[in-house]
Amino acid sequence: MANGELPRRVLLVGFMASGKSSAGKELASRLGWDFQDFDTVIAARAGKSVSRIFAEDGEAEFRRLESSVAEELMARSDTVVASGGGWPAQPGAWKMVTEDTLSVWLKVSPAVAVRRASEQGPTRPLLDGGDVTERATALLLGREASYRRARYTLDSEQYGPLELAGEIVKLMKYELDPTVEEMS
Ligand code: S3P
Repeated sequence: MANGELPRRVLLVGFMASGKSSAGKELASRLGWDFQDFDTVIAARAGKSVSRIFAEDGEAEFRRLESSVAEELMARSDTVVASGGGWPAQPGAWKMVTEDTLSVWLKVSPAVAVRRASEQGPTRPLLDGGDVTERATALLLGREASYRRARYTLDSEQYGPLELAGEIVKLMKYELDPTVEEMS
């Protein structure tokens, strides 16, 4: 892309509680696009929550469902897609991210992710119990290289969901015409 064409979709990646869903919904509403969230579609397909899939069927089954949902959602147009926090690190994930996708990593520290996740309740099996900050730090370290493959990075601690959406609109305009505006 970056050749004067509007991206066909926006993909948001980042760690758990990095704000992918809230920024994604806001962005979709500003663009008049559809919003799709991996976990919501996975849960609807499986007929149970992500936590129950992990508990009853195991992570491998969750990743299998996630991959098939990803394949489908990454082919949609005029759609903002929020991936699950672990998906970008799965084998083959980035092969699904085509050139006409604007990908953005919403960056957050483990401490802030853990604080936000605890405020949102026990919906994330990988952050349940034990020393959560230690686990989040190790997970994030192992995933950072995969998040970094996104075309852009935005600081999700500096910006709230509304500002993130605004920044992504700016990135889209920039891709359409790099001469229009200096990027911040
Ligand atoms: C996961 C992140 C979750 C969800 C599942 C596994 C992960 O999504 O897909 O609990 O491996 O980081 P969110 O990033 O939306 O919380």
